[in-house]
Amino acid sequence: MARRPEEVHVVVAGSCNFDIVVKGQRLPKEGETLMVSDLKFFPGGKGANQAVAAARLGARTSFIGSVGQDIVGDFLVRGLKDNGIDTTWVKRDGERSSGSAFIMVFPNGNNCITVDPAANLALTPADIERARPVIEAADALTTVLEIPLEAVEAALRLARLAGKLTILDAGPPCHCPADILKLADIVSPNETELEHLTGETVSGRVSAQEAAEKLLDLGVKTVVLKLGNDGSMLVTRQKTKHFSAYKVEAVDPTAAGDAFTAALGVQLAAKAKMEDAIRYANVAGALTTTKLGAQPSLPTRQEVEDFAARLPKSR
Ligand code: RIB
Repeated sequence: MARRPEEVHVVVAGSCNFDIVVKGQRLPKEGETLMVSDLKFFPGGKGANQAVAAARLGARTSFIGSVGQDIVGDFLVRGLKDNGIDTTWVKRDGERSSGSAFIMVFPNGNNCITVDPAANLALTPADIERARPVIEAADALTTVLEIPLEAVEAALRLARLAGKLTILDAGPPCHCPADILKLADIVSPNETELEHLTGETVSGRVSAQEAAEKLLDLGVKTVVLKLGNDGSMLVTRQKTKHFSAYKVEAVDPTAAGDAFTAALGVQLAAKAKMEDAIRYANVAGALTTTKLGAQPSLPTRQEVEDFAARLPKSR
């Protein structure tokens, strides 16, 4: 690797949420009152999770986002600062509450999430433009679809014009026009997100690769698929390569994809080879599933490197 993570500056333009987490046996039916347990509150949001992950993996990190002028917003911004993240470009929206997510974790280690983006929806292209100096000073920009598409587009366009590495984490699932997708050097969806982007049904590696190739047809150059328990897959015109998942004791997948994207961004900005960066991102994602909650579960660089050092050399 040409540079160390501490020499890399990553900007994340994305969402910031207050996560309300419970453990439940199953989803309630319509009209049903269902008893759940283990209520916890965590800082989350796909963008903020990426920022915290990038910072813990060693990168200098700046976050562009929007939270409400409420105590939840104070809590979320303080959490980012406590992780050493530059919050200069976090807007405090007086109209809406801070974004929140309602997460149920099931006994099998899966989860389901509903999100009220609230103040995240107040992030505008003008806010992104205000952050131009930090984007121009950074090495890479990552963004997510949990903020308005116009803000995603503005961030990718500005970073692209400035010659920075651009990564679009395609979560949460939604349609995103090809003109925006093409602004990212790398588009990284999970299977559900890939279905929404392409209109294809995705189930397993073969259909995932075929759907990813539809993204290439739209003009995307590199797709890095997050396949959960089945690892990840690189799909370009030149090559397709699958990367196995690492075995861990998973308790909650929340933020695993966010850790994956952040790790990919940090490693590529540090000039790691794509395949090495994906393996590193797989470790970061896997370790994230071993703890409950979004930001508390994001691993440090030391934890990722310790785990990687224990792996057989051939992987
Ligand atoms: O990716 C996980 C995140 O999705 C949670 O932290 C939640 O806030 C939602 O945005």
